[in-house]
Amino acid sequence: MFPIQRLRRLRMKKEVRDLVSETILSVKDFVYPLFIVTGKGVKKEINSMPGVFHFSVDKVLIEIAEIRKAGITAVLLFGIPDKKDEIGSGSFAENGIVQKAVREIKKRFPELVVITDICLCEYTSHGHCGIIEKGEILNDETLKILGDIAVSHALAGADIVAPSDMMDGRIQALREALDGSGFMNLPIMSYAAKYSSSFYGPFREAAFSAPKFGDRKSYQMNYANSNEALLEIQEDIEEGADIVMVKPALSYLDIIRRAKEQYLVPLAAYNVSGEYSMVKAAAQKGWIDEAGIVIEILTSIKRAGADIIITYHAKEAAKSKWILK
Ligand code: PBG
Repeated sequence: MFPIQRLRRLRMKKEVRDLVSETILSVKDFVYPLFIVTGKGVKKEINSMPGVFHFSVDKVLIEIAEIRKAGITAVLLFGIPDKKDEIGSGSFAENGIVQKAVREIKKRFPELVVITDICLCEYTSHGHCGIIEKGEILNDETLKILGDIAVSHALAGADIVAPSDMMDGRIQALREALDGSGFMNLPIMSYAAKYSSSFYGPFREAAFSAPKFGDRKSYQMNYANSNEALLEIQEDIEEGADIVMVKPALSYLDIIRRAKEQYLVPLAAYNVSGEYSMVKAAAQKGWIDEAGIVIEILTSIKRAGADIIITYHAKEAAKSKWILK
């Protein structure tokens, strides 16, 4: 007998396809990363990330007005300080680059969700995400500084803090520091399953944050592992993480799926710099249909299980006709 079920029936018309679509990408799923530098009047394109810029605080306000118009509701801020030192003291300074940016942004755009990255690598002279003694990245000594960074961002007006350092125990340390300063309602989005990845290359160029010696393999995860990602996520949830993240996204869709199936907290995925740059490079060569590929990539990240997608494509994708406004 010829099959009764013809799966093509529901594919015949666009409107019917839309009706039965299992995944709908919305501009409200996106978080747009921004790189802030010191000075005035700076808008400088990052060489390895076409369409992504270094902004001084005055210029980032113009950029944010634009992305707001496109419907984007959340940003993730990275600061690039003028001076770096051994302990990354620029990271928790009251007048540090991120703290200044947050204050100005929240003044102009109080409704925008401002998420701040909490890490030391952009601020340390050695480029590592923790305090160093005799070539070793010290875990517990780093926690106190991470707490100070979080409180300084909260005081500046950040809506969510996002630790990306991968020290053990940092979520509890941040929670205690924030609660101790009266910020018990400020959520933590944890870079919970963050892999040691070559896909961060362009970001490190953008943030001048490549480690000066060694690599990040003693704190970021081995990409051969998947159970370990679930342990990282579990630990962070137990310590009080409100949102957990898998990073990078594309080579890690299986991790996103497993995390979604196992845990109930909102899940973010970071579509990182190298993933972005590969698409841009191929598009510049005329080898791919950029608009189509970007929506396909972002849809696949959501289909895998991400509730939140952090992506440099957000600004362009937000204007796409395939996206819910
Ligand atoms: C800081 C940090 C990194 C990224 C986000 N936060 C770089 C790293 O860990 O080396 C990477 C983001 C990207 O590649 O887009 N620890």
